[in-house]
Amino acid sequence: MDLCLRPWLIAICSSLCLSTAAIAADLSTTAINDRIKPIGNVHIEGATPPAAAVTTSSRTGQAVYDRYCGSCHNSGLMGAPKKGDADDWAARVSQGDAVLAKHAIEGFNAMPAKGTCMDCSDEEIVAAINYMIKPN
Ligand code: HEC
Repeated sequence: MDLCLRPWLIAICSSLCLSTAAIAADLSTTAINDRIKPIGNVHIEGATPPAAAVTTSSRTGQAVYDRYCGSCHNSGLMGAPKKGDADDWAARVSQGDAVLAKHAIEGFNAMPAKGTCMDCSDEEIVAAINYMIKPN
């Protein structure tokens, strides 16, 4: 081979090798996980939503009540204290806010935990309680 060509061949070969190395370079776990991660994220009903979703999805007491609590507390189903009925609520309210909130969040006899609103925050449950104990 003409010796004058050798430096050129070396130059071409090494640039090919280097570019291949550059493509394959990032083999760190984070980079690999990033490349093979699934498209989109799945949120399972009832699972704790990401922090961002919690702050943006705070519902009013009325919204939570209408959707989750009214089915029992509108009519007094199974002995549930009726919304806005001062007689039904008097003795319960006298237990104090903390007890009411605890019973609503953890459940109490036929009162299901969080009134079945499993993705409600504690604050949303308390807002619903405040809405339902207000006299009609
Ligand atoms: C499946 C019917 C049902 C649903 C739905 C329901 N409740 Fe109740 N709730 C009850 C019953 C029954 C009681 C009375 C339990 C008892 O005193 O034995 C009750 C009691 C309560 C009490 C009083 C607890 C106490 O210490 O006296 C609060 C507060 C309450 N519910 C809040 C809520 C809220 C808030 C929701 C909606 C997020 C809700 N409930 C949804 C049936 C229900």
